[in-house]
Amino acid sequence: MIMKKIIVVMSLFVVLAAPVQAERFPPIKNAEVKSECGECHMAYFPQMLPRKSWQRIFGELGDHFGEDASLDDKTLSSLRIYYLNNASDVSDLRAARKWQEDLSVGEAPERITTAPRFVRKHDELSPRVWSDPEVNSKANCGACHTNVAKTGDFDEDRMEKNWEGGFVDKVKSLFGGREHDKKHRGQ
Ligand code: HEC
Ligand code: HEC
Repeated sequence: MIMKKIIVVMSLFVVLAAPVQAERFPPIKNAEVKSECGECHMAYFPQMLPRKSWQRIFGELGDHFGEDASLDDKTLSSLRIYYLNNASDVSDLRAARKWQEDLSVGEAPERITTAPRFVRKHDELSPRVWSDPEVNSKANCGACHTNVAKTGDFDEDRMEKNWEGGFVDKVKSLFGGREHDKKHRGQ
């Protein structure tokens, strides 16, 4: 009887400790995308925004968030196709579906950093971290998500620095990060 209880308790632990599926994107291999869209910032993963958002971004490259990012017609057309073909409402990747699920019908965020999933995934961070000199901008994903352009892996364990800050995190880790896991599982 006791043995049975022990087994039940142990298997419960196994379930609780099961690895949470990290949010992964396929690293961008397309050389043109990497060089043209990775010149001023990392080349963002197309799966984070729907077609409508990318159409707008590619339609306004001459005035791209205050910069001139315009391209010749041929390059523009091939990069545009790349982004549209891998958009969150086209790609069947799990991560793409997750970003799409958080949008209401027809919603087309202007930025990745204003997309509901981005906002939700970072809402526990103190607003101060965005102005940390190492970060400077929410759009600077790689400042916190180490090597993310190469790995496509946004899992927290990949980060070199603890951005959630001191005390709360220590308390969380005492409880095995359950709140955190719940948030991830309930994606
Ligand atoms: C000349 C420099 C430059 C080039 C080239 C460039 N961008 Fe940008 N991009 C910027 C700047 C500046 C911002 C604003 C960054 C910020 O808010 O910190 C930006 C922001 C963005 C954002 C929004 C980031 C966020 O806040 O979510 C997206 C998406 C984006 N760029 C996509 C692209 C794509 C796709 C290409 C290639 C066609 C490209 N960019 C090429 C300068 C550039
Ligand atoms: C100031 C550091 C910082 C910056 C900059 C940042 N993030 Fe994050 N991000 C975090 C932290 C910390 C978490 C973990 C939060 C949590 O799960 O409680 C996170 C979580 C995520 C997750 C969820 C990962 C998972 O497995 O659930 C995604 C996806 C993500 N970030 C994407 C981005 C993208 C895309 C950018 C850039 C446009 C970005 N982040 C910029 C700190 C940052």
